[in-house]
Parts: sequence; C-alpha cells; structure tokens
Amino acid sequence: MFDVIQFNQLIHARRSVYTKDYTGEKIDDTIVRQILENATWAPTHKLTEPWHFVVFADEGLKKLADFQSECYKEVATLNGTFDETKYEGLKKKPLQCSHVIAVGMKRDKKKSLPEWEEMGAVFCAIENIYLTATAYGIGCYLGTGGVTSLEEAKAFFDLTGEDKLLGFIHLGIPKKNLPESRKRKPLEEKIKWIS
Ligand SMILES: Cc1cc2nc3c(=O)[nH]c(=O)nc-3n(C[C@H](O)[C@H](O)[C@H](O)COP(=O)(O)O)c2cc1C
Repeated sequence: MFDVIQFNQLIHARRSVYTKDYTGEKIDDTIVRQILENATWAPTHKLTEPWHFVVFADEGLKKLADFQSECYKEVATLNGTFDETKYEGLKKKPLQCSHVIAVGMKRDKKKSLPEWEEMGAVFCAIENIYLTATAYGIGCYLGTGGVTSLEEAKAFFDLTGEDKLLGFIHLGIPKKNLPESRKRKPLEEKIKWIS
C-alpha cells in the first residue's frame, strides 16, 4: 500500500535546517496547514490531543521577534544572566524564516494522564512536522532555547496554568547543496534483542 523504500529514504533525509540556511522565500500557507494537519495525526493517549500551535507569518514574525527578545531581556536582566548575543539572535532569527510555529502542550483539565505522556504526544507531532516538511522540500528545525521555559512567555502563546511551551519550529526554503543528514551511531549500540 505504501512505498516502503521511499518512506525509509524520507526518514533518513530528515534533518534540522537552521535559519542561516534559508533563502528568505515564502512557503505557501496551505502547505503550512498541511504540515499541521499531519502533526495532529500523531499518536495521543486517550485522544487528549494536547498540542497547541501558534503560527507566525509575515508581520507576525516581527511581533514574535520583538516579543521574545524583550521578554528574554526583561527576565535575564532581573536574574543577572543577560547575554547580548542571545538577545540579538532572538530578535533576528524569526525574520530569517518563512513561518515560525510556537508549539505548546495544553494540559488536559481532568489530568487523565501524567504530564510526560502529554509532552510525548506533542513531540510525536513535532516529528510529523519534521517529516512532512522534508517531504515538501522545506527546511525546519525545533528550537527549545530562548523563552521556551520562561513562565512569563506562556500567555503570549495562549498557554496558562499547567500548560507548557515546548519550543519553536522554524520553517524556510533551504539553500541548495546543504550537507547530508547528520550521522547516527550503529543501531547495535542501542539495541538488546531478546528471543
Ligand atoms: C527536543 C529537541 C530540542 C531541540 N532543541 C534545539 C535547540 O534548542 N537548538 C537547536 O539548534 N537545535 C535543537 N534541536 C535540534 C537538534 O539539535 C537536532 O535534531 C540534532 O542536532 C540532530 O540533527 P538532525 O535533526 O539534523 O538529525 C532539538 C531537537 C530536539 C529533538
């Protein structure tokens, strides 16, 4: 029913492509919607579907850049960890992208599952995003730095209480001739087979 050879090639071709390697061209919004549609087909225990996406495009990218750099500056200045290079990166990176998707975990009100299961489901959705982007020839990477773990940032992404901000998917058209996928250790180092 499926072309397994192509599927295996897709998995191996997936790689993180960073903003410095984007051309600046725009991706069609309908493709971004398809990427997110595929994200929602990730496995989800008890069908809680805990993912929450906020998509930034066009002028929205500037809003994200301004928000995340100023939020970081405020918090880092207060706790004495401010780093000018990090601040500049937070201001610049969204503007190098076609779209940025903030990815959150909305905690199920009944807390019918442990938090790690809900986060696991969201990271499965993120892998679907990576793979769909690869299939369309779109570059992407997940960033979990910047304001990701700041409580002060959550409200900007419609997250409250026990919801969690888990990272930012950066999307762009990749430049040509990027290096091949990063290598992995031999499977035998990671596997114990009991028969
Ligand atoms: C949970 C998670 C968090 C990540 N956070 C970051 C990040 O903050 N910054 C970054 O440059 N890459 C980040 N990445 C991407 C990894 O660095 C990347 O997957 C790794 O280098 C392997 O490269 P590949 O994706 O091209 O195979 C993250 C990946 C995962 C799965």
